[in-house]
Amino acid sequence: MREADSVDVTEDITRFYQPELARVIAKQRLSEMMVMLRLQRASGEMLEHQPGQFLQISLPGYGEAPISFCSSPTRTESFELCVAAVGNLSEAMHELRPGDFVGIRGPYGKGFPLEDLRGRDVLCIAGGIGLAPLRSLINYVADRRAEFGRMILVYGARKPSERLFKDDLANWDAREDFETLYTVDEADEGWTGRTGVATVPLRDEVEIDPTRTTASVVGPPVMYRYVAAELLAKGMAEDDILFSLERRFKCGMGKCGHCQLNDLYVCQDGPVFRYTQLIGRSEAIEVWAPEDERQ
Ligand SMILES: Cc1cc2nc3c(=O)[nH]c(=O)nc-3n(C[C@H](O)[C@H](O)[C@H](O)COP(=O)(O)OP(=O)(O)OC[C@H]3O[C@@H](n4cnc5c(N)ncnc54)[C@H](O)[C@@H]3O)c2cc1C
Ligand code: FES
Repeated sequence: MREADSVDVTEDITRFYQPELARVIAKQRLSEMMVMLRLQRASGEMLEHQPGQFLQISLPGYGEAPISFCSSPTRTESFELCVAAVGNLSEAMHELRPGDFVGIRGPYGKGFPLEDLRGRDVLCIAGGIGLAPLRSLINYVADRRAEFGRMILVYGARKPSERLFKDDLANWDAREDFETLYTVDEADEGWTGRTGVATVPLRDEVEIDPTRTTASVVGPPVMYRYVAAELLAKGMAEDDILFSLERRFKCGMGKCGHCQLNDLYVCQDGPVFRYTQLIGRSEAIEVWAPEDERQ
């Protein structure tokens, strides 16, 4: 445990772990694996969050896990979470219905640095369910459009049926002030768009001014190495590339060390990190370094 964060043993720290209740007010199936839940705090108070932050969600008897916000904080009367059915808790969350309650703790973590993004071109690169936390950022930019430069979204899904937020994808695509590049790894009969991984349109079709662009990247870890290489090849500075990391969390708030990555606590120092913070931390992601080219 970090010295600065060490716990006073006389303090009752259980209060930090006490969840509050939130009510499910709507549920929408996004794909075979994914549902989106719209929730409201039982207290009726608003929950203020930043895009890229997460909540610790719990269901008695099933456990607790971190889930990112997928709604923008500009839409404040409720908040949305997108959940993949992968295990104990998430499968139980798929069975929730409007009117049911979950436990929540948070918001926690460092999200996308909105103050630094203001005035800059926003390049979002999403792979698979990585679109969920980025949707929060993209709709934030949509709602505060004048505060940002270009908005470019590159989104890759495995199959057309696994594409998330299809209504949002269509709305963003229809906007003249958004540039969207969607692709799938495997097309089906009805798919007329791009085929191939997201790094292909990123490499071949996205032209940026690297001095005024910040890239926000969320997807499977294997994607990060290749995306970093493409962005650096376009002349971007390492400090302007943001990655959101996933680790197994317990406390979610810098107390237990479960998510530790060298000297970083992913739950508290992240989950959104600048690429510069991750270089040299080989476990962080499969980080590409310029030396790789020479090997
Ligand atoms: C910051 C952050 C944000 C996230 N946001 C989202 C989100 O928006 N949506 C979403 O769907 N998910 C999100 N996740 C992932 C989610 O928290 C996990 O998938 C969580 O484990 C689901 O809990 P579960 O009980 O359903 O699954 P679990 O029962 O925990 O199982 C999930 C998977 O992990 C494996 N597993 C179980 N225990 C271990 C272990 N000790 N070590 C390694 N593998 C293990 C299981 O075999 C299974 O494949 C996020 C994670 C982080 C860190
Ligand atoms: S320190 Fe407990 S999960 Fe990060």
